[in-house]
Amino acid sequence: MTRGDDMGTPVKTEPLVLGIETSCDETGIGIVRGHTLLVDAVASSVEEHARYGGVVPEVASRAHLEAMMPTVDRALREAGVKLADLDAIAVTAGPGLAGALLVGVAAAKAFAYGLGKPLYGVNHLAAHVAVDQLQHGPLPKPCIAMLVSGGHSSLLLVPDVAHGVTSLGSTVDDAAGEAFDKVARVLGLPFPGGPHIDRVAREGSGSAIPFPRGKADDGTLDFSFSGLKTAVARYVEKNGGSMNIADVAASFQEAVVDVLTRKALAACRLHGVDHLLIGGGVAANSRLRALAQERCEQVGVRLRVPRPGLCTDNGAMVAALGSELVSSGVSPSELTIPADSSMPITMVTA
Ligand code: KG4
Ligand code: ZN
Repeated sequence: MTRGDDMGTPVKTEPLVLGIETSCDETGIGIVRGHTLLVDAVASSVEEHARYGGVVPEVASRAHLEAMMPTVDRALREAGVKLADLDAIAVTAGPGLAGALLVGVAAAKAFAYGLGKPLYGVNHLAAHVAVDQLQHGPLPKPCIAMLVSGGHSSLLLVPDVAHGVTSLGSTVDDAAGEAFDKVARVLGLPFPGGPHIDRVAREGSGSAIPFPRGKADDGTLDFSFSGLKTAVARYVEKNGGSMNIADVAASFQEAVVDVLTRKALAACRLHGVDHLLIGGGVAANSRLRALAQERCEQVGVRLRVPRPGLCTDNGAMVAALGSELVSSGVSPSELTIPADSSMPITMVTA
């Protein structure tokens, strides 16, 4: 990180970090320098899971093993970076699928050990927060982060992503993305369902069917989507052939994004924070992005949402958090760290 200039004077440069993500079905390899994204290479096994209607852990682990080295090679080549140039290796240590995480953690340890570079085992959720810095610059301190993906729906208070994150609320049953995927299945749409519902809903009306808003006014910052999912399934059962699928998709989507945005802004209000960040795969949803923008503007909250490719799982987010940790002087992880499938959000590093 510190190199000599022509006069031999040390010049401080930003850390060059390789990030490895294998917590679910994406083998993501990202390389960043400071807050600058150099490459974001992703190999997805999503098509191998499609016929099962969900991610099959063993299939995902095997796909990570096969994709790891080709994806690392591709990332290094595209970024014009040599392994020896790296300042640190960062990897998702958890939460996620145990066997899938293990592949990334083992690869990261091998790189760190072989190259003699520091290893940072990082929290997947904190990485979803840190990635926004690659697009919008340093994170405001503090900010509220809402992470909505296939595995998580969480509201977080983030005073400083390198040093700690506090959980304010989370789903008590299904994750938001899980609800999108399950409802898509009921509607006969392919897996993963989120992008398909998003697309189909554009032709429908979000106010056509008054689906329930679980926990919307219960005074907590928790979410619940299983009642909504059941209500959609009942509606489809009852109305089958005569239903307008675009209206069902749009009304379901509206119920989800209505509750998400209401709770996120309640978190901002309760904690006196005027910056909201939304991340995770569901943050790619066009209606969520539009409604969040509209409601944030109404109450003077600044909204940050990364571009869709940075919202879904990727290696750049892990590299972004790794770079933040290096710059903040956080100690690296031990080479003995485990893959922790239920790593708590209060742990930014392993
Ligand atoms: O963050 P992510 O890539 O992986 C997990 O950590 O789960 O999120 C994947 C989830 C899936 O449930 C997928 O259906 C959902 O994000 N998703 C969307 C959209 N794009 C992806 N949900 C709603 N609208 C979208 N446009
Ligand atoms: Zn994720």
